[in-house]
Amino acid sequence: MEDTLEFIKGKINNFSPEIGIILGSGLGELADKYCDISISYNDIPNFIKSTVKGHKGRLVFAEISGKKVVMMQGRNHYYEGHTMKEITYPVKVMKKLGVKTLILTNAAGGVSEKMKAGDLMLITDHINFMGANPLVGPNDETLGERFPDMTEIYKKKLIELAEKCAKDLGINIKEGIYFANSGPSYETPAEIRMAGMLGADAVGMSTVPEAIVANYCGLNVLGISCISNSASKSGGDKLSHEDVIETTNKVKEKFKKLIVNIIEKL
Ligand code: HPA
Repeated sequence: MEDTLEFIKGKINNFSPEIGIILGSGLGELADKYCDISISYNDIPNFIKSTVKGHKGRLVFAEISGKKVVMMQGRNHYYEGHTMKEITYPVKVMKKLGVKTLILTNAAGGVSEKMKAGDLMLITDHINFMGANPLVGPNDETLGERFPDMTEIYKKKLIELAEKCAKDLGINIKEGIYFANSGPSYETPAEIRMAGMLGADAVGMSTVPEAIVANYCGLNVLGISCISNSASKSGGDKLSHEDVIETTNKVKEKFKKLIVNIIEKL
């Protein structure tokens, strides 16, 4: 951690971010629009190196609406074969850089009937079905406690604030529970029926590990899903990553507007 922080601090001239954002699939453009300083993950000690050519993986520092923000443009996933600890390391780095509020974003499949492709959903709670927890292993008492409370990961106050921002912008926004699978395969229709029975509104392959670690180390979390498709149903359309990206592309303008407005009001 000391190596990581020393390297990053050497690049950002006392820039002290108070807000962190992890940008999900197809939602990374915010970091193209607002970018004062960027550092490739490949250069940062102890960050996961990207092996995919042309794949953006960088930390972007910028002032947005007068607030100092650090963004992850590109996240690493558990399904790539990294450990839970590795994929959540950047959250701990953000905490050590002084971040207080973390906005987690993702593309997700709609489980409940009320979630339609193109919707934005504020995450009110989650179900961790990934089969692993990022806090397994020796505990670092300087970050958080051994058995951290998880009763309000996604802060009510932030959800209310995001709702108000959406209303002001004329954006229709929903609320729901995010169900995390490890992936990389999409769910079967039976798995989606199960997720629905367990109370899920949307399903995806990310966010939950970061949310657990963020809450553990005292960050205020806001989670926003872009519903990119209706999750698999018997007799429904086949799912492809291309379709997911196509929908996030359609939603990204409204998504960016909302995030910028939320940052302004934070
Ligand atoms: N399932 C899991 N992850 C996803 C989906 C889905 O339907 N859509 C986007 N990410």
